[in-house]
Amino acid sequence: MCGIVGYVGNKNAQDFLISGLKRLEYRGYDSAGIVTLDDAGEATLLRAKGKIVNLEEKLAENKREDKIGIGHTRWATHGEPSETNAHPHQAGDIYLVHNGIIENYKELKEHLTEHEFKSQTDSEVLAALVESFYGGGEYSLVDAVVQALKLVKGTYGIAVISRLNPHEIVVARSGSPLVIGVGHDETLIASDASALVGHTKQAIYLNDGEVALVTSHSVEIKTLNAEPVSAKVEEIETNLAAIQKGGYEHFLLKEIMEQPESLRETLRGRVNATEGTVRLGGPGLTEAQLRKIKHLVIVGCGTAYHAGLMAGYYIEQFTPEITIETVIASEYRYRNAYIPKDSVALIVSQSGETADTLACLREIKKQGVPTIGIVNAIGSTIAREVDGGTYVHVGPEISVASTKAFTSQMIAMVMFGLTIAQAKGVKPSVLRPYVQEIAKLPEVVKETLASVSAEVREVAAKYAEYDHAIYLGRDTAYPAAMEGALKLKEISYVDANAYAFGELKHGPLALVDDRFFEVALLPSGELYDKAVSNVQEVLARGGHILAITNVDRFDLPVENVVKITTELKIFAPVIMNLVMQLLAYYVTVAKGYNVDQPRNLAKSVTVE
Ligand code: G6P
Repeated sequence: MCGIVGYVGNKNAQDFLISGLKRLEYRGYDSAGIVTLDDAGEATLLRAKGKIVNLEEKLAENKREDKIGIGHTRWATHGEPSETNAHPHQAGDIYLVHNGIIENYKELKEHLTEHEFKSQTDSEVLAALVESFYGGGEYSLVDAVVQALKLVKGTYGIAVISRLNPHEIVVARSGSPLVIGVGHDETLIASDASALVGHTKQAIYLNDGEVALVTSHSVEIKTLNAEPVSAKVEEIETNLAAIQKGGYEHFLLKEIMEQPESLRETLRGRVNATEGTVRLGGPGLTEAQLRKIKHLVIVGCGTAYHAGLMAGYYIEQFTPEITIETVIASEYRYRNAYIPKDSVALIVSQSGETADTLACLREIKKQGVPTIGIVNAIGSTIAREVDGGTYVHVGPEISVASTKAFTSQMIAMVMFGLTIAQAKGVKPSVLRPYVQEIAKLPEVVKETLASVSAEVREVAAKYAEYDHAIYLGRDTAYPAAMEGALKLKEISYVDANAYAFGELKHGPLALVDDRFFEVALLPSGELYDKAVSNVQEVLARGGHILAITNVDRFDLPVENVVKITTELKIFAPVIMNLVMQLLAYYVTVAKGYNVDQPRNLAKSVTVE
């Protein structure tokens, strides 16, 4: 979603704000703005529609030596992307940037008759509300912010400055992350720690319901009820290399290619291939608790949901007496779903900040069900609110389309399933093949990426002409197909949908014509022959099929085949997913679209 930055210190504020916004641009990128104040409180407000480069052009003519400022990169919710709707918003002496949604903004706006509204945003209402309590400096900025927030319904991460006191920033959060970076003679603000990397390693993560008064030398935190909070300074683990492209043309390709290492990090210290066992410390469940689990609810959005679906297929293969329901968070949060006793919920999120997933977590906790996070972003809200968890440790994922996180989330959940199965006394001979294949994954992923990339690139050039695609799979390859279709859809804008092979003749077969191409996932195994029959049905209707298979003897007369390793049987669909990631990447490159920042989307969806 949107990104927030702020700076107060002894260096040039504009420099940090722009570089920070660039780091956060992947979160939202339809407009951006910064405001800085000089010592006398004179403000320089710069806003531009579109990418940060447009803002930089304006900056070139408006360079200042100001030492305090706030900035924002926007992903529109209320009001179209435009310069007027871009943040910071001004009300009197106050400037404010906001992430989140003010739900009761219309109601609040009715009372703010003295402010002349310029934008269509809910955020400007918040700026005007703060200003109404500020009384032209009669009250302190922090008190004005607190009074305003007490009236607000919705979610927010905000940073506010006033022309009347160009030495302090007030920040607050409820449902939208905010990090305060503590430096030497400077304090930095960001909605995501990646903007702080290279500036400081010390960070304070604000909790929901907290407000902080920040100067270059101090951070005072209190709750909205005026209870003081002692700041906990934590170490930022990310390094600069992790958030740079490192020689790749796009973050997406870098992240696809990083999967051997990211998987290694996910598995580190958790897998014993010789014994055929896995051990996860994070979930914090005892053997007795694991043994009792009868039901798993897996919650996520987008790619995280697909990872959960796929893991569910695997876990039920080897875990007795368990039911698994993988759900879309935005649906589940409003369902009146009964969660049986002896359930555990897996909360899956790369960012750890997705609003719907977080809402589900809170609902599920209310029912007293243990919650386990499958999260990447360390210290994120979901990671902090779950009862236990397994970090996937894939490092920052910058490209909006999720790749390395998917692979590791899926495997981390399978490993959690294996710990349940182990506790339930499933025979090691049943579990060992899974563990052994998991242990081999990093190496096989490495070999596959090296061997298929050029071929997939060539194939992609052929399919870049199409605007429609159907992805097909059965069993564990079906959720893999869903993820493959999502990848293509989100970055190349091809209308790509996935179906279970068996569903073809219940509708999708009617679509097959020259406008469509079909990606058929054909892993070896019991259902291979059935899937082949389905492929025949498509071929008979003139389908343009790209098959991805690990079957050596594959000889169907399809248009194109990408053959993958035969080394893995169980997790062949994971390897097929790599091919689909590359396919989406190269189709998008061929079409000439923005790979890392597809239109209308955002990396971390912190609003409902
Ligand atoms: C957005 C991203 C997706 C991601 C989904 C869930 O839609 O563009 O790539 O899968 O959110 O995000 P999360 O951070 O919760 O995994």
